[in-house]
Amino acid sequence: MKRSFLFLLMISLFFSCGKKNDILVTRQDDGSIVLSFTADKKYLILPLEEPGLELPVDVKVDGKQEHAYLIRFAGKNIDYRIPMDISAWKGKKVELVVKNGSNADIFCSDIRQSDTFEGNKEEKYRPVYHFTPPYGWMNDPNGLLYYDGNYHLFFQHNPFGSRGQNTSWGHAVSGDLVTWQSLPEAIYPDQFGLIFSGSSVVDWNNTSELQTGKEKTFLALYTQYNAAEKKLHQSLAYSNDKGLSWTKYSGNPILKHRSAPDFRDPKVFWYEPNQEWVMAVACNRVLEIYTSPNAIDWTYESCFGNDYGLPQGGWECLDLFELPLNGDVTNKKWVLICNCTLGGPSGGPVTQYFVGDFDGKKFTCDFKKEEVHLLDWGKDNYATVSWSDIPREDGRRIIIAWMSNWDYANDVPSVSFKGAMTVPKELKLVTRNNKPVLISYPVIEIDKLRRDPKYINTKIEKEYVIDDLYPYGKGAYELDFTIKNITAGIVGLKLINPKNEFTDIFISIPEKRLYVDRTKSGVVDFHATFPAKVHADIEVKDTYKLRILVDRASIECFEGNGETNMTNIVFPELPYNKIIFYAQDGSYDLDMRTYRMAAPEIR
Ligand code: FRU
Repeated sequence: MKRSFLFLLMISLFFSCGKKNDILVTRQDDGSIVLSFTADKKYLILPLEEPGLELPVDVKVDGKQEHAYLIRFAGKNIDYRIPMDISAWKGKKVELVVKNGSNADIFCSDIRQSDTFEGNKEEKYRPVYHFTPPYGWMNDPNGLLYYDGNYHLFFQHNPFGSRGQNTSWGHAVSGDLVTWQSLPEAIYPDQFGLIFSGSSVVDWNNTSELQTGKEKTFLALYTQYNAAEKKLHQSLAYSNDKGLSWTKYSGNPILKHRSAPDFRDPKVFWYEPNQEWVMAVACNRVLEIYTSPNAIDWTYESCFGNDYGLPQGGWECLDLFELPLNGDVTNKKWVLICNCTLGGPSGGPVTQYFVGDFDGKKFTCDFKKEEVHLLDWGKDNYATVSWSDIPREDGRRIIIAWMSNWDYANDVPSVSFKGAMTVPKELKLVTRNNKPVLISYPVIEIDKLRRDPKYINTKIEKEYVIDDLYPYGKGAYELDFTIKNITAGIVGLKLINPKNEFTDIFISIPEKRLYVDRTKSGVVDFHATFPAKVHADIEVKDTYKLRILVDRASIECFEGNGETNMTNIVFPELPYNKIIFYAQDGSYDLDMRTYRMAAPEIR
């Protein structure tokens, strides 16, 4: 009885789905659903639901297994759709073997091939001028390099859903650090595991001997998790067409750890004096240094860390480079960027840094062990790393960070994508109170997006209301101001929307603190650690200079020249187009320029 019912169901699905979208749905004896078709379009459009069914899916092409993913297929409702690029398989038989699904699930009848995919560019929390993946989940920036007029941005990407799974390297390029063009997925998971964070470099001297044509080879080094061994290893992929297509190195993984299981996020650079490659890699709470003549065979050199800096948390995504002190190229210091899983000022992950020296083999630190130096005091600036191969004539050290937080990144209320990058920032090492301090400030290219300037110069005694700052601007704007002649105890501003949701940014003069309070900023209830009032200690100054970049779902505050920065994401139901400056117990003079921030042209 049961069997014949199943048979009838299969027949009816065969006819209804098969005719509708040329995808044949069958059920195997082991209960898997098989979706099969001949690829003749660019994409297979996957209907997804959150949390959805989360089904293991094998992708087979002409009978050969190509990929294995976890896909949150839509069972009852379709929340959004995501394209799977099938253009390379034109004319071939493609099968998706979906384990544990049911052919009554809605994905079976909705899945289809298409030559186009529009995506949801207008989604409520999609920023206007910050980089987001066109679809899917994004975390760390990876493999940042500059070559032939383009800044390459690779990133931890789930191309098949908006949660942290199926980790691959997504790819985008920009000629100006502002206008990002998305490119096809760069590196997919393989038999050695998911593709975790790492770096890439241009092999100018063909040390790897992997160059085949006239373009220099890009080398990408990244971490893979071997589930059977419960260990992380380093692997290599290379590209001879400017990062468009990648080949996995045949001898992967190229570097296994001698003993520790946690061994992640290789940052590779060319060390000119020794004419060799250096790899900085995080191993629990330690930086390990390896060297290599060809970026393939690596020798262990030294380690640094353990009891330095933040007292808790694991180290991830390290970066090591030299910077002139106060712009003096004859007096350079080495900087170690160290992202740490715990110890942020309000809990959670954070970017700290160390300053010292490096001789090609070993990093030595100028700071005392217990000193803690943070690059950003907000909750949403993580996995900060820098671009390699920026031409000498430019000479900048440019960083970017993932604008989210592992505590709640999977739960934020954007739908078809999750995760955005900060704006790219220039790093400088300067002396403050006789100490080297790392400051970061938006790259000058961001200024190109400024439109519709307004100027306000006024004394704030109680409140000053700007009602409709840029009502047509989708909540993307910049406030650039100074505050002086301060007699007030609290100097603040609230960014507000018509629903009375607001983020409060203020300086408490007696406490010498800059605060960002997002407890009433909009949707905050998706995770207990999200509604927060965060602060940073600041110096007493006659004049405070603040620059605030607002982009619908994020607020980046830069104090001074980037001495004290705070990056926080927010999810207001409507854009914050009303601003109230206020003073408590006194007054101050405000001198402000505002700009609407335009969308870069290509997305
Ligand atoms: C940092 C990190 C890395 C890892 C990657 C996985 O956010 O945990 O250490 O390689 O994310 O996506």
